[in-house]
Amino acid sequence: MRILETERLILRPIEEEDIEFLVELHADPEVARYLSLGRPRTAEETRTWLDKMLSMERENAISHLTILSRETGARLGRSGLLLFQIEEASGKADEHPLAAFFEPETVPQGLRTTDELEVGYALARSAWGQGVATEAATTLRDYAFSELDAPRVMSVIHPENVASARVAQKNGMVRFDTLDFFGKTFDRWLVVREEWERLPR
Ligand SMILES: CC(C)(COP(=O)(O)OP(=O)(O)OC[C@H]1O[C@@H](n2cnc3c(N)ncnc32)[C@H](O)[C@@H]1OP(=O)(O)O)[C@@H](O)C(=O)NCCC(=O)NCCS
Repeated sequence: MRILETERLILRPIEEEDIEFLVELHADPEVARYLSLGRPRTAEETRTWLDKMLSMERENAISHLTILSRETGARLGRSGLLLFQIEEASGKADEHPLAAFFEPETVPQGLRTTDELEVGYALARSAWGQGVATEAATTLRDYAFSELDAPRVMSVIHPENVASARVAQKNGMVRFDTLDFFGKTFDRWLVVREEWERLPR
């Protein structure tokens, strides 16, 4: 992805040099609580995550970006777009959550899935509560619609993650359904292109 600039932020592709910051970010239990694993990542797990982001950027030109303060240049967190595979609706969505897969290679054989773009975000605790996630997320949503021609954009959020749900709401999303992700139930928040076009700018 190219560098994205907002009023207060610079979002640039993740670099090898971000490793120390990312290890610290992912090791914070408060930050990690509602992320996919639901617990802090080890340095090794963050290394694997970073390698995944670098390879996704090379292969698909989408990944998470490092959020920098425009004013100080400091790293504030990460935010970006990820490609998920989600089981096609069976018509029984009320009975069981649809399975969501982040890595295509983990989709069970024969299961029909659709590609979905997800806006995600995680900030260092010192950057919380200043509108940073909303500023990054709205920019990524706009990028997905206007530059990637996405028909819809989602955020996959733990049901108890009130701050993240609020960011999704401010990002024009509504809670759509539930997904089985990493063996746990998450809410899928969604905005479709028609709704996005109607949002005030
Ligand atoms: C979720 C997260 C990214 C939000 O970042 P942020 O920059 O503080 O978010 P913003 O300031 O843009 O907006 C947060 C909104 O949630 C609200 N909020 C925050 N904590 C809240 C809480 N405990 N209960 C209710 N609302 C809360 C804020 O008031 C704000 O809404 P407002 O503008 O209407 O007042 C940040 O808390 C974080 O990094 N958490 C850990 C990682 C994570 O969970 N990521 C999301 C995975 S889906």
